[in-house]
Amino acid sequence: MTLSTYSFSLPTRIEFGEGVVKTAGEEAKALGATKVLLVADKGVIGAGLTKPVEESLDAAGIAYELYDQIVPNPRDVHVEEGYRAAKDAGADVLIAVGGGSSMDTAKGIGTLLTHGGSVQDWCGFQLLERPITPLICVPTTAGTGSEVTPFAVITDTTTHVKLNIFDPKAAAAVALVDPSVLLNLPSHIMASTGVDALTHAVEAYTCNVANPHTDAYAIYAIDLIIKNLRKAVAAPDIESCTGMMLGSTIAGIAFGYADVAAVHCMAEALGGRYDTPHGVANALFLPTVTEFNIPADIKKHVEVARALGVNTDGKNPEAAAMEGVEAIRSLCEDVGIPKMKDLPDINPDDFPALAEASEQNVSTPSNPREVTAKDYLYLFKKAYES
Ligand SMILES: [Fe+2]
Repeated sequence: MTLSTYSFSLPTRIEFGEGVVKTAGEEAKALGATKVLLVADKGVIGAGLTKPVEESLDAAGIAYELYDQIVPNPRDVHVEEGYRAAKDAGADVLIAVGGGSSMDTAKGIGTLLTHGGSVQDWCGFQLLERPITPLICVPTTAGTGSEVTPFAVITDTTTHVKLNIFDPKAAAAVALVDPSVLLNLPSHIMASTGVDALTHAVEAYTCNVANPHTDAYAIYAIDLIIKNLRKAVAAPDIESCTGMMLGSTIAGIAFGYADVAAVHCMAEALGGRYDTPHGVANALFLPTVTEFNIPADIKKHVEVARALGVNTDGKNPEAAAMEGVEAIRSLCEDVGIPKMKDLPDINPDDFPALAEASEQNVSTPSNPREVTAKDYLYLFKKAYES
């Protein structure tokens, strides 16, 4: 095996299992908390998911305040508002409960608490001077992986560009990953977030910045997700929710320390224009892009197919890899992901602009096969027709 030099370290301690969410108070205390800012959106609060965290903070005798102005695709203005709330409260530990939006907003708040300035000052690759305010992340969906990724994606409301604080110093100190929080998740959210997690794993495994450590995480995440997502959508039980929560967190490590690729570039362009849910957008493009990428690395795509449950023994490698694409397509269908044509607002006249936007995405160079705006246009059209 020939290999170029790489490094791998994981700054986040993961506590996994049923009930770990109830240890939030003790974890905050261990991080030296005197006052906590709890960051969560109104839906998560309404579903009662912050309750065990609040009870455990009460039991540990730690005061807290709530910041709930969280929106999908978090914005710089909310990070700054949350920062002022944290500062006014004298918060010295942050706890984010929710999906990627809450966790990324909290990472931004922690960055401003420790570095001052504006969000824009710290967006870029490894610009932080010190670790951010200690952050505990409690994911409530099995998709984003933000509880273990070393970045926060925040939208600049002036330019409408997605910015990225990309730095292991912005990662959560502790991830409390509790599968029981998924038991009452609406099935369409389980489906779309689950396909997002699968996309993280497939793209992390096949992208050209993967390394053996991220490969090990990515391939196991694919196995976990394919074995558990259908059940977790149709009739969730603790077993399938455990499989999905593990799959999502493990996929988060994989893409957090490798990258995503062309599927996410297209999904982010689509989401930016039409506000398509991130997981749905990924699902629209994952089969088409995977098929396009097969010639760039047939061996790895056969391994993806095998992880997806395809019996690849004795088969022609291209045909085996294509069976993997079909396995992804039927999974998306089985969990009720809509067809691109059935989504409101999507207008093929926009595809050239979306193709340009996809090409500009920072993850385009990570795609295993070179992909230009012209290729992206072909992929948008092909996905629309499939
Ligand atoms: Fe994603």
